[in-house]
Amino acid sequence: EAGLLAAVEEIRELKRRKNAVVLSHFYMPAELQVKHQDGGIADFVGDSLGLSVAAKNVEADYIIFCGVKFMAETAKILNPAKQVLLPSFEAGCSLAESITGADVRRLKEQHPGVPVVAYINTYAETKAESDICCTSRNAMDIARSLGGDKLIFLPDLYMGRNLQTKIKAETGKELILWEGRCEVHEQFTPQRINGLKLMYPEAQVLVHWEVPDNTVSDAFTGAGGVVGSTSDIIRFVGESQIRQFILGSECDLGATLRGMYPEKEFIVPCIKCPHMKQISIQNTLEALRAIGTAQEALFEVRLEEEIMKRALAPIERMLAFS
Ligand code: 13P
Ligand code: SF4
Repeated sequence: EAGLLAAVEEIRELKRRKNAVVLSHFYMPAELQVKHQDGGIADFVGDSLGLSVAAKNVEADYIIFCGVKFMAETAKILNPAKQVLLPSFEAGCSLAESITGADVRRLKEQHPGVPVVAYINTYAETKAESDICCTSRNAMDIARSLGGDKLIFLPDLYMGRNLQTKIKAETGKELILWEGRCEVHEQFTPQRINGLKLMYPEAQVLVHWEVPDNTVSDAFTGAGGVVGSTSDIIRFVGESQIRQFILGSECDLGATLRGMYPEKEFIVPCIKCPHMKQISIQNTLEALRAIGTAQEALFEVRLEEEIMKRALAPIERMLAFS
């Protein structure tokens, strides 16, 4: 553990000397989520929407992004004058990788005039072909706000179906979907959640929008359940009198919730996002050490000017909406 503490100390010192801030997602390993003011390294911890807003407002020269590549790209697009460093480019995402800009162009040809809503879990070239972005926090409101009787929602099939169920009932609007899946949340099947409900009948089920639609429909029957974004889940736990929860989301969100609400109990099948887990204290330290050296380019998020400009518009539309 001395190694970890020494690394944390060095990161804190390097942030100060190199004028850098660390932004960290709720799915990061616990040690990357401790706030700077509490002796850790994170200047901001949040969900993908919170991190986008935070990135836009950064004044320091460097953003060290402890999250996955699509999030770091979004930070760069929103604050292009800053250097955004990603500690590992192995930090991908099964959703972002499921679709390309060319796929979106083809979809638009097949469905002319239908608005395209791109989940933030996409790469810049996909966003560049889209009308508006959304995150799990604002997807429902954005989908509701768009005119017409159809919209293209991409790339998460399950989240799309979960949105579709609600929207169709309210507005009759039809969603055209893509076949992307989150490799973490797709594992929260009805069988898995129902097995836990048998063991913990008093527990409240909390699942992310990205879990399969039959989990949302089956697993909740008779028990009630919360389907939402990471922030919705955190908020619900804070406001609820319930003390025991079954979490259908990423393993380290369970650790985050335990830290925030030590008096409550969280039953979490520990499924880790292999992409998020590419980021560590060690490679965060290496990214900071690289600043100002020839190694810096290895960590730098670089995007074509033209793509950045076109991807900015749908992200800005989303932020204006929120
Ligand atoms: P949030 O928008 O809730 O942060 O979700 C990010 C993510 O990767 C979900 O799997
Ligand atoms: Fe992508 Fe799922 Fe990992 Fe989030 S948890 S980064 S959606 S693979």
